[in-house]
Amino acid sequence: MRHHPCSSILSFPPLLLLFAVLFSFVSSTPQNALYEGSFLAVEDKSGILTSPDKFFTCGFYPVGINAFCFSIWYTNTANGTVVWMANRDRAVNGHGSKISLLKNGLMVLTDLDGTSVWSTNTTGTNVQKLELLNSGNLILTDPQGNILWQSFDSPTDTLLPNQAFTKNTNLISAKGEGMYSSGYFRFFFDNDNALKLIYNGPEIDSLYWPNPDNTLYVNGRTNYNSTRIALFDDMGRFLSSDQLSFSASDMGIGIRRRLVMDYDGNLRLYSLDESTMSWVVSWEALPEQCSVHGLCGKNGICVYTPKPQCSCPPGYEMTDPQDWNKGCKPLFNQSCNQTQEVRFLMLPQTQFYGYDLIYQSSVSFNTCMNLCLESCYCQAFIYGLAGDGQCYGKDALFNGYRSPNFPYSAYLKLPKSLNTSVYSASNGSDPTCGSIRTETPLGSYVYTQSGTTTWVYLYSFALAIGAIEVFFASFGWWFLFRRHGVPTSVEDGYQAIASQFRKFTYKELKKATNRFKDELGRGSSGVVYKGVLSDNRVVAVKKLGDIVQGEEEFWAEVTTFGRINHMNLVRIWGFCSGSVHRLLVYEYAENGSLDRHLFPDVSKSIKSPFLQWEDRFRIALGTAKGLAYLHHECLEWVIHCDMKPENILLDSEFEPKIADFGLSKLSQRGGAGSEFSRIRGTKGYMAPEWALNLPITAKVDVYSFGVVLLEIVKGVRLSNWVLVDDAVEMTGLTMLLREVKMTIGNEEKFCVEDVVDPQLKGKFNRKQATTMVKIGISCVKEDRNKRPTMDAVVQALLECKDDTMKMV
Ligand SMILES: *[C@@H]1O[C@H](CO)[C@@H](O)[C@H](O)[C@H]1NC(C)=O
Ligand SMILES: *[C@@H]1O[C@H](CO)[C@@H](O)[C@H](O)[C@H]1NC(C)=O
Ligand SMILES: *[C@@H]1O[C@H](CO)[C@@H](O)[C@H](O)[C@H]1NC(C)=O
Ligand SMILES: *[C@@H]1O[C@H](CO)[C@@H](O)[C@H](O)[C@H]1NC(C)=O
Ligand SMILES: *[C@@H]1O[C@H](CO)[C@@H](O)[C@H](O)[C@H]1NC(C)=O
Ligand SMILES: *[C@@H]1O[C@H](CO)[C@@H](O)[C@H](O)[C@H]1NC(C)=O
Ligand SMILES: *[C@@H]1O[C@H](CO)[C@@H](O)[C@H](O)[C@H]1NC(C)=O
Repeated sequence: MRHHPCSSILSFPPLLLLFAVLFSFVSSTPQNALYEGSFLAVEDKSGILTSPDKFFTCGFYPVGINAFCFSIWYTNTANGTVVWMANRDRAVNGHGSKISLLKNGLMVLTDLDGTSVWSTNTTGTNVQKLELLNSGNLILTDPQGNILWQSFDSPTDTLLPNQAFTKNTNLISAKGEGMYSSGYFRFFFDNDNALKLIYNGPEIDSLYWPNPDNTLYVNGRTNYNSTRIALFDDMGRFLSSDQLSFSASDMGIGIRRRLVMDYDGNLRLYSLDESTMSWVVSWEALPEQCSVHGLCGKNGICVYTPKPQCSCPPGYEMTDPQDWNKGCKPLFNQSCNQTQEVRFLMLPQTQFYGYDLIYQSSVSFNTCMNLCLESCYCQAFIYGLAGDGQCYGKDALFNGYRSPNFPYSAYLKLPKSLNTSVYSASNGSDPTCGSIRTETPLGSYVYTQSGTTTWVYLYSFALAIGAIEVFFASFGWWFLFRRHGVPTSVEDGYQAIASQFRKFTYKELKKATNRFKDELGRGSSGVVYKGVLSDNRVVAVKKLGDIVQGEEEFWAEVTTFGRINHMNLVRIWGFCSGSVHRLLVYEYAENGSLDRHLFPDVSKSIKSPFLQWEDRFRIALGTAKGLAYLHHECLEWVIHCDMKPENILLDSEFEPKIADFGLSKLSQRGGAGSEFSRIRGTKGYMAPEWALNLPITAKVDVYSFGVVLLEIVKGVRLSNWVLVDDAVEMTGLTMLLREVKMTIGNEEKFCVEDVVDPQLKGKFNRKQATTMVKIGISCVKEDRNKRPTMDAVVQALLECKDDTMKMV
């Protein structure tokens, strides 16, 4: 705080004057109050107000280079957390700006040039002081202690415990991550007395919470109480007059919490973890982030990668590469030109909410498509593959999102002449993951002071929803149009996918495998035969055992895996599906599976080549890369669930290729969805959570990979039982862990030579072997949260990859 240098100093009561003089000497002590006639200057960092318990601070908060907003924030949280701002859409200069308590009762925020940027509505009142309370409420009071103005009445995006949320208040999101200016998402009491979330965008307004498809009653709310008041208490319980109630997952007293309308459109309750002074989410309104409306603008689609990201469909591009709110613009003319020939592009599991031009139920796919063809305003239609025949024709594409749970697909109407294959030809080679382009944050807006300007304000902007654009071109496929552009059946669509992946006839495969003569192996899922296709490609054909899936379901799943393409994953060339037979056609791997090389069967006459150290390291790294790809990079997040040496195939160069991943069920990303009930896997490689009946996550694969990695180093089956000291039977893994765990942390005691396969006769890279053992042990931790991710494993292996082959 600073005392005013001229005008009002004489009107100060003597005691205050004394204080004021004192403060200019001991100005490093933060203050509890600001008095009438004085001001707080932006330069004066020591003059900021704090609440008596020091938890909250009020003052000028930096929002950009030389740009500040008068704000309240948590004093000690990591990087500060702003809870309130006076005018967040207008920052002030870092010099000469101030907040003043005027004698006429007003509290005013002024910029360098004296312009009033914000003020209270307290003209003519007998203002005495401004105080920051322990609750985080900033109050302006008169000498009698009456509150004339309080920050709790005008929240920005945050509601604090015991702060009443009323018909006059709103929470409005910030524009983007790390940004402070007002965005488009709003939490408010609607006219029907219910609390809602709405997107108030530049082009559309759209309610998205509670679920707009349901009635208020079905959503558990009521509309008869017009009080319109809501509050959350110190326990973390939120109660509203419309019957909405929820509690923090860590409900209880003594925890700091805040309810925030986040920049991504979700409403979240955060609890403070005081050990790290960081915030953890203890409740959120929308578990599926992409169901927030307006996230990706017009024509944009929210996809999980697995983080929610915005993308443009084929035939569209970002309108403004810096702003997803502006959505995507078509690369073709959307005129109602009947002479223009059109086709439809399928976007699986994609929804565009609202703007229904056509709605029909119980109609066939062709009827739905024709309805959309006939109306030139129809830009796309949504139809359920599940077969209840719901048909929605859209005249505008908003609120697009792709969800693995969504039983419908969107069919985009595009001009026939438009060549969308250019997308898949652009950077990024992988068809499943699309090409991912990362753009750097940009956009700074320079505001120059007029007149004898000295200061320039620079506001930095971060990109709203991240800037990764995933092209869809490769997950849709063409419907090749025959007569008047009408596909004869969905099956034609499948056949039209590039020759890379296709449907085979049973006869073709019977011929290729010479009537299923040359058996390569048997697994839990079926028998594998060697075959040669008519184009001389050598393939492995797997005859699936039990047929439980419906044909359509089988297609859908297989097609997904057909689009997965990574050098360390066995390529699926196609499938055959009839009433009796289900077969998969795979790439053939010359050197068979890893187990044959690691644990050769001495009884077998054919000897598999012994694996030297370089091969072992390459196999470990390649396998890790393949798994990391399945876990982290694929759009269809896949958990393998049955990692073992039998499922690691080796090609002619001994490059590993993971097999059988196609048969684990597609996992739904995140939260409650990441569970499945069926037990899969092989004893000895299965993570403990299978037995404990815990939700299955990608960490089960990390566990299995750890076992395989240790087996690669040691050259023996660790899942086998061994007798120790002629007394105790334990698995090889348990024994290894017992031996190694005691010494692994100690560089002097740990002797990697004791672990490495003796058959290598000491020809191995010590650093690589040590890294592999360490990774292997961290992967088989009982607590899955302590296991690394596959990305981290790849990183760690890459770090010792280029070590020149220093043999020890
Ligand atoms: C906090 O600030 C540091 C350094 O300025 C930065 O590296 C870190 O990411 C920030 N953390 C958060 C949560 O913003
Ligand atoms: C100031 O505004 C608040 C909220 O809009 C209102 O409740 C209050 O009566 C106003 N005060 C004066 C003095 O106008
Ligand atoms: C309306 O809600 C308020 C606050 O929850 C409550 O005090 C009041 O009794 C309710 N009125 C009716 C008619 O239920
Ligand atoms: C769209 O139409 C305008 C004029 O009508 C033309 O100049 C433009 O090239 C067309 N764009 C495309 C992509 O066909
Ligand atoms: C309609 O499309 C045809 C073929 O694309 C084109 O030749 C014609 O100029 C278009 N007409 C209008 C009015 O855009
Ligand atoms: C589409 O573009 C790709 C790449 O530019 C090209 O190879 C292909 O022949 C084009 N297809 C058509 C139908 O024009
Ligand atoms: C691919 O990316 C590289 C660099 O990342 C760039 O130089 C090149 O122009 C890109 N090619 C295409 C077709 O976008």
